[in-house]
Amino acid sequence: MNADQPPICDYEGSDYQTSFWEKGDRAYEDQVEAIALRRLLPESGEILLEVGAGAGRNTPRYQAYQWVVLLDYSRTQLKQAQERLGESDRYIYVAADAYQLPFAPGVFDGGTMIRTLHHMADPQRALGQVRQALQPGAVFILEYANKHNLKAILRYALRQQSWSPFSPEAVEFAGLNFDFHPRSVRTWLEASGFSVERQLTVSHFRVGLLKRVIPLDVLVKLDSLAQLSGDWWQLSPSVFVLAGAVGSTPVVAPGEFFRCLACDYFPLQHLTESITCPSCGHKWLFEDGIYDFRLQSNS
Ligand SMILES: C[S@@+](CC[C@H](N)C(=O)[O-])C[C@H]1O[C@@H](n2cnc3c(N)ncnc32)[C@H](O)[C@@H]1O
Ligand SMILES: [Zn+2]
Repeated sequence: MNADQPPICDYEGSDYQTSFWEKGDRAYEDQVEAIALRRLLPESGEILLEVGAGAGRNTPRYQAYQWVVLLDYSRTQLKQAQERLGESDRYIYVAADAYQLPFAPGVFDGGTMIRTLHHMADPQRALGQVRQALQPGAVFILEYANKHNLKAILRYALRQQSWSPFSPEAVEFAGLNFDFHPRSVRTWLEASGFSVERQLTVSHFRVGLLKRVIPLDVLVKLDSLAQLSGDWWQLSPSVFVLAGAVGSTPVVAPGEFFRCLACDYFPLQHLTESITCPSCGHKWLFEDGIYDFRLQSNS
């Protein structure tokens, strides 16, 4: 079942939320992302799929949606999200691989993928899976790490960097960490059945010295302004894209939510501690409030 699956960047047991965000001096990055999300999110929605939700840092920003499905490959990240968000029927936790989403087609009217595409060795495949899970007309907010950023362009011009920021291929700057070219991301989105509606460039001033000498609120305001140039040029390290799901997807009946990853059948039967496929009999676990559709742990 897993032979042709791309490798997964494993966050199991990682303290990413604490070490990167809370102790890592990243208030600036967090605040400018919040602004970008506020600008791109619709006023209301029914059910949102958050791909690579991690510890749920962004989830409280999705208040406009009635339900949010937090999907992440790492169970420990989802457990941290449960602790952060508290008891609520609004949140559904799913441990699964972005390359194999366990949803019937057209379940969601919204989707987000923030700081997650940069772990994808096969980004187009993941985007295709997200598109299948969305209804036509659904909105999708994608954040990606941009190789065509000002710092990389300067370093390349000064011959301090061997790879070209202008060429379309991804650059893997650390194992399973990729920067992408804006043109490539657009091509993958369009090939997957999305139309690009709007782009915001984000985190223009992600430079240690600037963050130390310029007050946080000033830097955030400057970035907020600079974000608005995103449709004209993309020179920041992070880009937020608002895309619309176009074309047709068969939209399922209410309640037809999960699909079986072993045989593609839906709907699945939900029992107390598992979900069973009536077609092939495969059992998917439901433990501690987390639906577990990871193939490795189930095969
Ligand atoms: C850098 S964190 C970002 C978390 C969150 N979106 C945020 O911005 O705070 C990337 C997340 O993507 C998840 N991830 C990486 N590869 C994945 C895959 N193939 N399927 C599902 N989740 C994946 C990781 O487990 C991790 O929680
Ligand atoms: Zn099945």
